[in-house]
Amino acid sequence: MNEDRDPPEGVPTGMRQGLTSYGDTGFSLFLRKAFIKGAGLSEAALERPVIGIASTGSAYNPCHGNAPQLIEALKRGVMLAGGLPMEFPTISLHESFAAPTSMVLRNLMAMDTEEMIRAQPMDAVVLVGGCDKTVPAQLMGAASAGKPAIQLITGSMLTGSHRGERVGACTDCRRWWARFRAQEVEADEIAVVNEQLVPSVGTCSVMGTASTMACIAEALGMTVPGGASPPAVTAERMRVAERTGAQAVQMARAGLGPDRILTAKAFENAMRVLLAIGGSTNAVVHLAAIAGRAGFELDLKALDRMGTETPVLLDLKPSGAHYMEDFHAAGGMATLLRELKPLLHLDALTVTGRTLGEEIEAAGPGFAQDVVRPLARPIYPQGGIAVLQGNLAPGGAIVKQSAASAALMEHEGRAVVFEDAADLALRIDDPALDVHAEDILVLKRIGPKGAPGMPEAGAFPIPLKLARAGVKDMVRISDGRMSGTAFGTIVLHVTPEAAVGGPLAHVRSGDRIRLSVQRRELALLVTDEELAARAKANPVREPTAERGYRKLFLQTVLQADRGVDFDFLVPPGPKGRIPGGG
Ligand code: FES
Repeated sequence: MNEDRDPPEGVPTGMRQGLTSYGDTGFSLFLRKAFIKGAGLSEAALERPVIGIASTGSAYNPCHGNAPQLIEALKRGVMLAGGLPMEFPTISLHESFAAPTSMVLRNLMAMDTEEMIRAQPMDAVVLVGGCDKTVPAQLMGAASAGKPAIQLITGSMLTGSHRGERVGACTDCRRWWARFRAQEVEADEIAVVNEQLVPSVGTCSVMGTASTMACIAEALGMTVPGGASPPAVTAERMRVAERTGAQAVQMARAGLGPDRILTAKAFENAMRVLLAIGGSTNAVVHLAAIAGRAGFELDLKALDRMGTETPVLLDLKPSGAHYMEDFHAAGGMATLLRELKPLLHLDALTVTGRTLGEEIEAAGPGFAQDVVRPLARPIYPQGGIAVLQGNLAPGGAIVKQSAASAALMEHEGRAVVFEDAADLALRIDDPALDVHAEDILVLKRIGPKGAPGMPEAGAFPIPLKLARAGVKDMVRISDGRMSGTAFGTIVLHVTPEAAVGGPLAHVRSGDRIRLSVQRRELALLVTDEELAARAKANPVREPTAERGYRKLFLQTVLQADRGVDFDFLVPPGPKGRIPGGG
């Protein structure tokens, strides 16, 4: 496919586009050139296609710790292809350095990314992202901005070793912390483990949200082929950066914008990949948000149906045994996509101007490896994520069945309710807490408006007295999210959330709840009349804020099924629903 297209006649490009308003366009360009020449650039440089580089390097973001080297390689690629690289900063978000949760700031980063792409002169943009919220934010912003855009993933971190056992963030962080809480590990040993969990810069080394979004970005066609899996500190990652820079120049010349790549077919491919990699539940929210920016609504029920025919093929933690660097050694996304071919739209366009099918062919034949299973021999027979319905979650809820305990997936139990995160912190470890292993723990008000920002608190801990008695998992239900690196029988994203008066708000300790993953059911065994009476007796007052970004957030944030985006950022009149769109 020949994607070369000159820009339409008369449409300004390069440094001539998007001039600052002084009422005199000639002067605007004259002034702009004067300033950029002050940075030492020549007329010849200014004649080249301008490639913006959205830089998210930050001392607060070790997952992007390789950004300086990546950007150097990116710039080399841009220059080799005849473009002018222009690096600019945007917000950067790391999971452990953003309070109360990075999710509160994802939409702000998306707005920053969109507006800086719009405001500054560039013919294409490279989005340098990796840590959980950064790639979704960048893809949301780029989809809205509409300029040719390509994602460069920072890459996963290496794995560490503790007394002969391989460890990596963050599945092993949680496992070792749970052992420490259960007094199976002493304080001096946990301190040693702490130094091994993140042995290099880069994103978490399991199939957490960052790795999931990297694979989704490639499945969407938004990275160069092979862009998802090379670890952060490898030569291959630098070469991917160089190729990405060169590709951005081609995209600028061809005018290949995200509207031609982020199609219904591309989103369906991404959903297949999410299911087949046992990916993070967070990606359901992020995909809904990115799709929303492209004008599509994500159909959760249809995603669930898709899951029944899409097995988990990737044997990575937390659903499996391996780490991202093993996935890369096994051929990365090419190996996975080759297996998934019968289920993919192979004619979906990618940033290269070629189709996904053409890129799979170009990657060559597969080879013997044990990280990506064949379709006929999956590690889990269905997709990793199941969508639940019922009177407790009229707008749906999800469970990561591939990381849940088989014994708890069909379970009825007594609810033990925590009204919010503060209540949980106060009582979860109280020796007097009335709780048994077969109970169902319910945590309210950690949804989009409740916490706010839908923090990753859904995988809240087992009560201390039960953990010390050897209980490893219990059914836990909330309107929050959980880290993609977490595991357990954890029901998430209950919609509508408690803070806006969803049925979850009216669950009481002692109620009985039934979970059936097989029937996709989440039922509160309380009559509609009783629930209505409780709602009338205790009306919910939605949280508000006096000023600033928090006020904007609480006034405009959508529920989980709409991607937790702001209502005013979603274009009116959706093109269709996915899967199932045209
Ligand atoms: Fe950044 Fe896990 S904390 S990817």
